[in-house]
Amino acid sequence: MFNDISGKYDFLNHLLSFGIDKIWRNKLLGSITFASDSKVLDMATGTADVALQIAKEKGVEVTGADISDGMLDVGRVKVKTKKLEDLVQLVNGDAENIPYEKETFDIATVAFGVRNFQDLPQGLIELHRVLKADGQLRVLEFSKPKSSFVFWFFGLYFNRILPFVGKLVSKNNTAYRYLPVSVNAFPEGQDFCDYLRNAGFTEISFKPLTFGISTLYICKK
Ligand SMILES: C[S@@+](CC[C@H](N)C(=O)[O-])C[C@H]1O[C@@H](n2cnc3c(N)ncnc32)[C@H](O)[C@@H]1O
Repeated sequence: MFNDISGKYDFLNHLLSFGIDKIWRNKLLGSITFASDSKVLDMATGTADVALQIAKEKGVEVTGADISDGMLDVGRVKVKTKKLEDLVQLVNGDAENIPYEKETFDIATVAFGVRNFQDLPQGLIELHRVLKADGQLRVLEFSKPKSSFVFWFFGLYFNRILPFVGKLVSKNNTAYRYLPVSVNAFPEGQDFCDYLRNAGFTEISFKPLTFGISTLYICKK
């Protein structure tokens, strides 16, 4: 599915989120403590926005991994355009079987990716495995707003308008219908924290962003 929409993904992402995705990425970066030699894994990197922002702003090495070659190809063009080839490496890699030795990375990030893992517990166990002791994990994911007015408005937008515009622009019938369905099915808030705890993570907290439309999860190994 992501291969199919990769060419339109960035455009639709910024359009359909009214650019709020940039604010969320800034919050994600702001929650991480970087050292000059930090090694970062951005899992489910897609077209590499998070990987590129970390490399550009923090000057550290970032590996972006994803199972969609279509998304990675778009990301590779962006890496080249931004002249960040020395810092950003994009690889085909499955979150549920991460192609790196244990304790390789200081920091792992996943932005709007965990919702798509086929086996969520296994993906989290793998992220835990490749992090060094005390390594930091940050997860950004959509969630459902708690205020009933925002929930109603968001529901209308997310279930009706977004799939319509997404289909019109991407020409893909299912991708933008899948988005609200997958958000509804995702174990958010405290439930997701339980998944993190079961995978071995500690010092777990979460912060709803923009009326709870998305949530930032913070934890360490
Ligand atoms: C909604 S996109 C998010 C991309 C990017 N992180 C962002 O913030 O724009 C979700 C990405 O997760 C990837 N993905 C889904 N399951 C995966 C898995 N098991 N391992 C690695 N990547 C996966 C998809 O290929 C897709 O690129």
